[in-house]
Amino acid sequence: MNDIPSMPADAGPLVSVSRLSKHYGGERHLIGGQTPLLKAVNDVSFDIAAGETLGLVGESGSGKSTTGRVLLQLEAPTGGDILYKGENITGLSKTLLKPYRRDMQIIFQDPYASLNPRMTVGEFVAEPLDVHGLAGARSERQERVASLFSKVGLDPAFMKRYPHEFSGGQRQRVSIARAIALNPAFIVADEPITALDVSIQAQIVNLFQDLQDELGLAYLFIAHDLSMIRYLCHRVAVMLRGRIVEIGPCEAIFETPQHSYTRALLSAIPVPDPDVERNRRPLSFDVAANLPPEEAVLRPVGDRHFVLEG
Ligand SMILES: Nc1ncnc2c1ncn2[C@@H]1O[C@H](COP(=O)(O)OP(=O)(O)OP(=O)(O)O)[C@@H](O)[C@H]1O
Ligand SMILES: [Mg+2]
Repeated sequence: MNDIPSMPADAGPLVSVSRLSKHYGGERHLIGGQTPLLKAVNDVSFDIAAGETLGLVGESGSGKSTTGRVLLQLEAPTGGDILYKGENITGLSKTLLKPYRRDMQIIFQDPYASLNPRMTVGEFVAEPLDVHGLAGARSERQERVASLFSKVGLDPAFMKRYPHEFSGGQRQRVSIARAIALNPAFIVADEPITALDVSIQAQIVNLFQDLQDELGLAYLFIAHDLSMIRYLCHRVAVMLRGRIVEIGPCEAIFETPQHSYTRALLSAIPVPDPDVERNRRPLSFDVAANLPPEEAVLRPVGDRHFVLEG
């Protein structure tokens, strides 16, 4: 059934992007000259191993979502390569990309916007099975969807309900059920908890972790909340204006951050201890004055820990 070449146990990363870029604008017009060029993603490289979570952090507009979309080729990259299980899948036709689409899924911030209000949530979760011709007979399809509901902590009796009948956290569970319907190996989670009530966030993060343990999923987890990133991720990449300025194991990023931008981001995290919190002084970082030079490259500063140096 699986058309993707299988990977030997000692193979390289599951997902790998190399010198990925996505530029917007820059088009020449007969009248009005050239639109400004925006390098939303600029020369970004990273790997993600099977079963690993790479956190992607950075200020609003730094290019995190664009990185996720271009990695999945929901938009064509301007340059660079995307490898999946060692196969270069950049620019493949829709047909050739189809098996990879099954293996690589995305979950968005706002579950309500991604759900179809006129479709029962059961139908919504079953849709990818239909699209990929994996639904089987009617009873089998129902069973598959029911088991997906149970996996994400929803009562299968809810299958016939519509999205408006659910809370934000439940809707995100529905989106997650749909994303895992095709047994993917990799999920881009783009701020999947940001829109949720704080009391619900931890439950959804725990669900992501449980599913990772159970299904061996790898995640690119995009988030604003650094304490959640610390809790969830194996490695962290920090983005600034389209570039990765620092990437490394979670502990190294949080304990020994090297880039001044990473330090500024970390200094902004509130501390639960009121005495420490009272004396916390967030560091400022002037982005415009500290833009990474175009020629800057990532240099190793520790085990799997790299920092952008001009
Ligand atoms: N389709 C598009 N056309 C033009 N510019 C775009 C497009 N999509 C994104 N951009 C620009 O690219 C830059 C990166 O946007 P992106 O959405 O990737 O940032 P982000 O890090 O995800 O931000 P946020 O934290 O707010 O979600 C921004 O300046 C944005 O305005
Ligand atoms: Mg975004």
